[in-house]
Amino acid sequence: MDERLKANLDAWNLMTGYHAASPEYRLAEFKAGENVLKPIELREVGDVRGKSLLHMQCHFGLDTMSWARMGANVTGVDFSDEAIALARSISAECKIPARFLHSNIYDAPNVLHEQFDIVFTSYGALCWLPDINRWAEIAASFVKPGGFFYIAEFHPLILMSDNRRGMTKLENEISYFHTAMRVDPPGPDYSDHTKIVSESHEWMYRLGDIVSALAATGLRIEYLHEFAECIYQHFPFMKQGSDGMWHIEGDPIPTIFSIKATKP
Ligand SMILES: C[S@@+](CC[C@H](N)C(=O)[O-])C[C@H]1O[C@@H](n2cnc3c(N)ncnc32)[C@H](O)[C@@H]1O
Repeated sequence: MDERLKANLDAWNLMTGYHAASPEYRLAEFKAGENVLKPIELREVGDVRGKSLLHMQCHFGLDTMSWARMGANVTGVDFSDEAIALARSISAECKIPARFLHSNIYDAPNVLHEQFDIVFTSYGALCWLPDINRWAEIAASFVKPGGFFYIAEFHPLILMSDNRRGMTKLENEISYFHTAMRVDPPGPDYSDHTKIVSESHEWMYRLGDIVSALAATGLRIEYLHEFAECIYQHFPFMKQGSDGMWHIEGDPIPTIFSIKATKP
């Protein structure tokens, strides 16, 4: 495996334990029967009953198994062996039928030889991927004719801004047009600030890069939606609204986008 992805894998194996223990991931609530999917994807993906669903970069599978609880036949893929082991154990403990495959997303076509009604991925997936075009080709290859690909992801406009503790307003850290890989030095985990995550490597894609990569596969883009509300407190100055989502005062920029693309 590419050395940069190997470093990311080590970081993700570490983060899996942190996230399983972090209240933000709501493992206890999930085990008690709650659905941990967010309103945006619940609304936009719609009825999944009886549908086959592939979750790319499924982490330890709570979103994947939430779709299963709603009636989908689910498969999750992730390159973290710790995450996949935890997903399998939760699936067994909660008696939720789900298949979890351990694979680098770029190697997934070698281990998974099927197509799905729905190919889903979400929040915090793309920044770990060195090649957006190959990622899009792989995602599209897993969609059945008549099926669709769906992503809900953090908007590049928030990824270019500094979100360290102590920030009081939006301040650009890098240009929107910055495309070089960034090395994240060891630092606090995004979910549990008391835990330290090892060095990782991240990429930032412009919205145009993502849409164009998907369009080039032959998928038909049904929509690109942008949302002011965020699923978590990305910036310390965000406030939680009555909708439970996090807002920058005045909602000046989108924090999340979603894309639905169908295969003719
Ligand atoms: C922020 S998490 C995604 C969280 C997801 N929204 C969920 O359901 O919890 C990012 C995931 O991407 C995985 N990942 C990162 N790079 C990968 C790669 N090259 N192949 C497969 N999985 C990868 C990590 O192991 C991690 O589980």
